[in-house]
Amino acid sequence: MISQLLLSFSLLTTSFCHTSNKILGGHKISIAEVPYQVATFWNSRQSCGGSLISKEFVLSAAHCFDEHVPDKILTVRVGTSTPKDGSGMSINVKYIYNHPMYDTISNDYDFSLLRLYEVKSFPSVVKFAKLPTVYDQLNEGDDVFISGWGRTEFGKTSDVLLRAMVQVQSTESCSKDYQNMFVITERMICARRIGGKVDACQGDSGGPLVRKSDGILFGITSFGCSCGDPRYAGVYANVSSALEWIYETISSDSGIANDQEPNQCQYNFTLPQHLV
Ligand SMILES: *[C@@H]1O[C@H](CO)[C@@H](O)[C@H](O)[C@H]1NC(C)=O
Ligand SMILES: *[C@@H]1O[C@H](CO)[C@@H](O)[C@H](O)[C@H]1NC(C)=O
Repeated sequence: MISQLLLSFSLLTTSFCHTSNKILGGHKISIAEVPYQVATFWNSRQSCGGSLISKEFVLSAAHCFDEHVPDKILTVRVGTSTPKDGSGMSINVKYIYNHPMYDTISNDYDFSLLRLYEVKSFPSVVKFAKLPTVYDQLNEGDDVFISGWGRTEFGKTSDVLLRAMVQVQSTESCSKDYQNMFVITERMICARRIGGKVDACQGDSGGPLVRKSDGILFGITSFGCSCGDPRYAGVYANVSSALEWIYETISSDSGIANDQEPNQCQYNFTLPQHLV
């Protein structure tokens, strides 16, 4: 009954940090339990996860869209827990907006927004993820769910959506674990299961980390030093720290032409009323 879950991480290869591609502790779930979860595809190849946050935008991780692949078509598949079999709905991505401060070495600001081509309607199961407001705070020890189609201990990605529960680790403690390897910034959240074995892994990147108690999307699967290693937590991009960029990008982008440059973040933006 315990299927092993691997979420996708960026592959980290420093001499200190050996990545393995195993995740333990995941369970099969229906898409109805995470109705905002999407799978991204380069042509027909499944790559990352993401969360639908509005009719036109998916929030994901910048490291998933780091390499420019001009000859490949990026799509997202919504409304299915088994995207490889062609179920759900495939939507083409119109534009990729990686956070302008995303750093490929440190993994800081690992945020990406995918603007989708408009669709008339989504499959009925689909719902948008609930972003945090400036007042919502994630605390050490909070139970959080991570989900994706990343690799399992069998070395293959999962055809079926898997979800695992982990707990938020303090940044102080996580920083100590990752010292000499990665700086854990305010744009990052650490989460793990004490004793390891439950974690995200390669293939889960970009997918959601939501708090169990209220379903708020606090994190985006970003990176880790191996998967399920008790010494190292999984690291997630901190959605709360990117709210201004998210709303700035979404609002200034609406209605622009297909071929226009993406806007740069201006950090001169008043949060919309529903956010405060
Ligand atoms: C995430 O970002 C928010 C807003 O900037 C900040 O208050 C919070 O402390 C950050 N979380 C962590 C774990 O750094
Ligand atoms: C911020 O936006 C306001 C209104 O659009 C503009 O007048 C002002 O010059 C901007 N400030 C900066 C620092 O960009």
